[in-house]
Amino acid sequence: MKKVFTILFATSIVASLIACGDSQTKDKAVAATTTTDISTDPNYQKGLDLVAKSDCLTCHKINEKSTGPAYSEVAAKYAGAADTTITRIAGKIISGGAGNWGAVPMTPHPQVSQTDAEQMMKYILLLKNS
Ligand code: HEC
Repeated sequence: MKKVFTILFATSIVASLIACGDSQTKDKAVAATTTTDISTDPNYQKGLDLVAKSDCLTCHKINEKSTGPAYSEVAAKYAGAADTTITRIAGKIISGGAGNWGAVPMTPHPQVSQTDAEQMMKYILLLKNS
């Protein structure tokens, strides 16, 4: 009888170890998918190229406030916003603006087209969890 118990006990430990290992593997798989997801989104590379070509990164960091708000904060604020809002905020990249994040204004970027500004917004919106 004692032997049976020992065997049962040992089996259940092995079973729970396997279960545990399983869920860790799954967590890792989920994390890996989320990380690769945004960089494989065509809007990511296109928007990043435009942002990198312009002066955006002198005032904005991905996940830390600089002169301007962190892009992850901007993404969190406008995640799920209506298309009209995204279009309007893209317009602010071109015309400049202040008051949404503090008193410091964003300089205008008249050389950026509305299409490019919207592409930059699509990239920024992907950075929500960065
Ligand atoms: C001179 C510094 C500076 C530069 C350069 C700059 N920004 Fe900004 N940006 C700011 C500041 C400051 C704010 C906050 C403005 C406010 O409070 O409404 C801001 C806000 C924003 C917002 C949020 C706007 C809102 O109303 O919520 C976006 C999006 C943005 N910037 C994108 C960009 C992009 C894209 C570029 C490059 C083309 C860029 N910024 C270049 C300083 C800058």
